[in-house]
Amino acid sequence: MRVVTLIMLLFFCQVYELKKIKRNHRGNNDKQNKKYSSTVKRYAPGSPCDIYTHHNEKYMDCQETKQTTISSEWPEDLIHILLARNRIRILKNNVFSQFKNLKSVDLQQNDITKIETQAFSGLKKLTTLLLQHNRIRVLSEEVFINMPRLTYLRLYDNPWDCNCELESLIMYLQLPKNRNLGNYAKCETPDQMMGQKLRQVSQDVICQEDTTGPSKIEGPKVIRPSVDSSRCHLYLHPTVTLDCRRKELHIVPSDIAPDIVKFDLSHNKIKELRSKEFTDVPNLEILNLSNNRIEHIDPAAFAGLLSLQELDLTNNSLVNFQYGVLEDLYFLKHLWLRDNPWRCDYNIHYLFYWLKHHYSVHYNGLECKAPQEYKGWFVGRYVRSYYEECPKDRLQDHTELGMGEGEWEQHIDGSKQMEKAKAKTVLLTILS
Ligand SMILES: *[C@@H]1O[C@H](CO)[C@@H](O)[C@H](O)[C@H]1NC(C)=O
Ligand SMILES: *[C@@H]1O[C@H](CO)[C@@H](O)[C@H](O)[C@H]1NC(C)=O
Repeated sequence: MRVVTLIMLLFFCQVYELKKIKRNHRGNNDKQNKKYSSTVKRYAPGSPCDIYTHHNEKYMDCQETKQTTISSEWPEDLIHILLARNRIRILKNNVFSQFKNLKSVDLQQNDITKIETQAFSGLKKLTTLLLQHNRIRVLSEEVFINMPRLTYLRLYDNPWDCNCELESLIMYLQLPKNRNLGNYAKCETPDQMMGQKLRQVSQDVICQEDTTGPSKIEGPKVIRPSVDSSRCHLYLHPTVTLDCRRKELHIVPSDIAPDIVKFDLSHNKIKELRSKEFTDVPNLEILNLSNNRIEHIDPAAFAGLLSLQELDLTNNSLVNFQYGVLEDLYFLKHLWLRDNPWRCDYNIHYLFYWLKHHYSVHYNGLECKAPQEYKGWFVGRYVRSYYEECPKDRLQDHTELGMGEGEWEQHIDGSKQMEKAKAKTVLLTILS
C-alpha cells in the first residue's frame, strides 16, 4: 500500500512538473500559436508539439501533428524527438545535425520513402532510431554507420526490396555486434524473397542475377507454430509498449522485443497460452489479454514474468486455472477475471486459495457461471459450501477457512469494495 501511495505521489509530482514546463514553454515560445492542451489531449490530431523534461532529459512530442519536415527552429538541446504518425516523406542530409545531444528519434508510421545517406549525420549519441511502418524500400549501410551508440533500430514493416542495392544494409545488420538492429525487417520483393528476414538473407542470393528460384535460408528450427509481432506497434513513450490490439492474432507473437513494459494483446482470437509464452520479456509489468478466447493456460505460460504487476484476463473462456499457473507472478498486484465462465467445482480451488493466500493481489470477477446450482455465487461462497457439505472436512477445516461472512471480492478500481473477508486465520494448506 505504501509503495502504491509513493508511486502515486511521484506520478502527481511529475504531472505537476510537466505542466510547469509546458507553461514556461508557452510563455516564451508562441510560434505555434496553438491552444494550451492538457497532457491528455496531446495525441489529438492538430495539437501542438509539447516540450517537457522527464528525468532531466528534454523531450519534444510531435506525435500525430501532421508534420512534414524536421524544423530547424526546434530547440537544439532536445534529447528525444517523438514524431510518430506524421507525414514525413524524405529525410535530407543533415536534417538532424543541430540536435547533437539526441538519444532517440521516433519516426515510425510516417510516409518515409527516402533517407539520404547523411540524414543522421552528427548524431553521435543516438541510441534509438525507430523507422518502422514507413515506405522505405532501399537503404545503404552508410545511413547508420556514423552512429556509434546506436543500439535499437527498428526497420520492420517497410517494403524492403531485397536486391543487390540492399546488400550493404543486410551485411551491416548481420554483424554480430549489431544484434539488436533491424531484427524483424523482412523482404517484400522480389517474390521469391518475400517474408524473409533481412538478418537471414544470404548475400550470395541477393546479388545473383538469375532467378533460378528461391533458396531460402532456414532459420533455427521452429518447434511450434509462431507468428511475429510486426503487425503490432511499438511505442517508447511514456512506457515501452507493444500494442497488438485487434490484430486477429490466434497465438501470442513469438519475437516480442525484450525491453517492453506493457504488452496489449486485447481483442484478438487467442485460445490458448502455451508454456513459456513470455520468457523473453523480463521487464513486462502490464499484460492485457482481455477480450480473447482463452480456454486454457499452461501452468508454465507465465514463467519468467517476474515483474508482472497487472494481468487483464477479462472476457475470455476460462473455467478455472490449472495448478501452478500463478506461481511465477511474485509481483502481481491486479488481476482482472470478469466475464469468464468460471466453473465452481473442485478445480477452481487452486485459483481461489492462491488469491486468498496472496491477499495483496486485487482481483475482480470471480463469480460462478456454472453449474447451474452455484450460478451467480462468488467463488468464495461456493468453496465454503463445499466444506460445509462435507462433515468430516468441515470439522478440520471450516474454522480454518475463516470465511464466516461475505466474500473476498474486491474491485480493483478502488471506488468500491464489495465485501471483505475476515481473513483472521491460518491458511489452509490443502494445496500441497
Ligand atoms: C485492457 O484492454 C481493454 C480493451 O482494450 C481495456 O478496456 C482495459 O482497460 C485494458 N486493461 C488494462 C489493465 O490496461
Ligand atoms: C468479449 O470478447 C469478444 C471477442 O472475443 C467480443 O466480441 C465481445 O464484444 C467482448 N464482450 C465484451 C462485453 O466486451
